[in-house]
Amino acid sequence: MNEASEIPILEIRELGKSFGGVEALHDITFSVPSGVIQSIIGPNGAGKTTLLNCVSGIIKPSHGKIYFLGKPIENLPPHRIATLGISRTFQHVALFKRMTVIENVAIGRHSKTRSGFLACTLRLSSMRREERDIFTKAEEWLEFVGLSDEMWKEAGSLPLGKQKLLEVARALAAEPRLLLLDEPAGGLNTSETEQFGDLIERIRNLGITILLIEHDMNLVMEKSDYVVVLHYGKLLATGTPREIKRNPQVIEVYLGKEE
Ligand SMILES: Nc1ncnc2c1ncn2[C@@H]1O[C@H](COP(=O)(O)OP(=O)(O)OP(=O)(O)O)[C@@H](O)[C@H]1O
Ligand SMILES: [Mg+2]
Repeated sequence: MNEASEIPILEIRELGKSFGGVEALHDITFSVPSGVIQSIIGPNGAGKTTLLNCVSGIIKPSHGKIYFLGKPIENLPPHRIATLGISRTFQHVALFKRMTVIENVAIGRHSKTRSGFLACTLRLSSMRREERDIFTKAEEWLEFVGLSDEMWKEAGSLPLGKQKLLEVARALAAEPRLLLLDEPAGGLNTSETEQFGDLIERIRNLGITILLIEHDMNLVMEKSDYVVVLHYGKLLATGTPREIKRNPQVIEVYLGKEE
């Protein structure tokens, strides 16, 4: 193994975030090795989304460090973090609902192109080729997540589960190295959740590291290489799914309640 591959893709060090009197994150430290599927679990209000918001730059931590491939990113704005190679989906889907499915994916790709999405939308002749490439790529990502048949529909007309898949396609269109997923299986039925499990494995097989917030414990335990457990803003445990399932504290505050 060479030196570069030993640097974690993401390292969180003593990260804290307070909202007024609420300490949403309290001195969180853990890392994510390159190439894994790692999950963050914990009860409602544990701080999972807040943690992802800090990593993607949507909110600034109160203190602590976040390293992406060894470089500090906690003070960078979201678009810079995206350009470095971190994409995300949202717990509450954030699509352009009146635009078509494929246009939503094309938007995800615009940070990769020279001219940007606006120029492409205006169809400047010199941008035509780039536009064609963007839409060809968008089509490929839609096929990858299983939404080829929905390409020309309005995004807002899709059921919630498919909107979540569309968000995944849009995030992939930016060609990230690290993909942050906030409850992507919410709204999916059992067989769709199984398909979603296959999808995250296929994404990982592309060499993209996945940090997944998810309440579906079958999905988490079956697909994750590592699991991080948050509870009231604190790091309760980290380990392999097997270790986490047997951890008495985790069973008491989270897993036990699921039964
Ligand atoms: N913008 C904000 N302003 C004030 N408080 C916030 C804000 N965002 C989160 N919080 C609070 O921080 C805590 C952690 O919230 P967060 O959304 O990170 O939890 P979560 O683990 O994602 O929960 P869930 O499983 O319900 O999505 C909660 O007490 C929440 O009310
Ligand atoms: Mg959340």
